[in-house]
Amino acid sequence: MSTPALLSPLALRGVTLPNRLVVAPMCQYSVTDGFVGDYHLAHLGRFALGGFGLVVVEATGVTPEGRISHGDTGLWSDEHVPGMARVVDFLHAHGSKAGIQLAHAGAKASSKRPWDGEGPVTPENAQPGEEPWPTVSASAVPVGPGWPIPHALTVEELGDVRNAFVAAARRSLDAGFDVVEVHAAHGYLLNQFLSPLTNRRADAYGGSRDGRMRFPLEVVEAVRAAWPDDRPLFVRVSSVDGSRDGVTLEDTVAFARELKARGWTSSTPPAAVSAADGTIPSATATRSRTRPGSARRRTSPPWPWGSSSTPGRPRRSSSRVSPTWWPSRARRRTTRTSPRGRRSSSPGTTTSSRCRPVPGSPRASGC
Ligand SMILES: Cc1cc2nc3c(=O)[nH]c(=O)nc-3n(C[C@H](O)[C@H](O)[C@H](O)COP(=O)(O)O)c2cc1C
Repeated sequence: MSTPALLSPLALRGVTLPNRLVVAPMCQYSVTDGFVGDYHLAHLGRFALGGFGLVVVEATGVTPEGRISHGDTGLWSDEHVPGMARVVDFLHAHGSKAGIQLAHAGAKASSKRPWDGEGPVTPENAQPGEEPWPTVSASAVPVGPGWPIPHALTVEELGDVRNAFVAAARRSLDAGFDVVEVHAAHGYLLNQFLSPLTNRRADAYGGSRDGRMRFPLEVVEAVRAAWPDDRPLFVRVSSVDGSRDGVTLEDTVAFARELKARGWTSSTPPAAVSAADGTIPSATATRSRTRPGSARRRTSPPWPWGSSSTPGRPRRSSSRVSPTWWPSRARRRTTRTSPRGRRSSSPGTTTSSRCRPVPGSPRASGC
């Protein structure tokens, strides 16, 4: 019997995945100060033991301010490299290739961990030692009611963010990763530039589609230049916004064409739509473990401001699987040691409930 295509190798530049099973990046909100330790070794290592061709580390902050929550992984300093390298070595030792998603959450940074509820960290709800921090975005457009107004990045500050992506890509190389993925989806910073709902800039980085694409493309171009030619670069996109006034499929196809011109290897759209001209149809192929029969479909959007559709417009499908089987917070609580020797106690895997869009915008099916 011939080998099913799913289990056949896939060459992406100089990296050959042993099969086409890819573990998508999945935030765990389970580290302190960005440092991965035993939790991630076990969490990601089990996928290598299970035979996945590529395992992608969750959205990893390129700056501390770019983290979604205090529990995110980070690569904003050289000190983060050894912990990541330990995970990569384990993945390689057990036959998987290793990827990492580099991310900046923009206006959606400084959020609570999902199990602490929806919304931003505030001085009132902050856990001890986990104060909120000021957020940034393309424009001063808050995520929604009750969210702080982000600072609109100046052109000079855009350069700092771009450099942070590049520095994190170099550290990814030091840690031994085979694949880097730039996170331009799910309503986070680069998506905030792409969407006219959140990008209200009057300068060269806003306005027309070309203007809105400019900064994400600059980031990808700079990361590509720093990332070895023989290693693939992925970009994750949200193919459409939840509102017709937002990003359209045509916008995303145009973005994909520009990405291709800059040496991008594959787009990994979290929704069912593949980019038009990727070298492979859709690289991200796995979903989180769901106990049979325990998942239920949402009938209403999980974000607090209600419908995902613009009033008067037909509503698009927003059904999402909501895992209901995660153990209680008390049972999930584990103790870990970070590479700095610091002990931290925080919960494990949780729901994708934070995968919410900027108002009326990215219809994110993931985080
Ligand atoms: C707990 C959890 C955390 C997630 N974190 C991320 C993330 O860090 N980055 C990301 O792009 N997507 C994230 N997602 C979305 C997944 O990568 C994936 O797209 C989603 O589970 C749907 O699977 P599919 O893309 O195979 O349909 C997360 C999903 C879950 C369930």
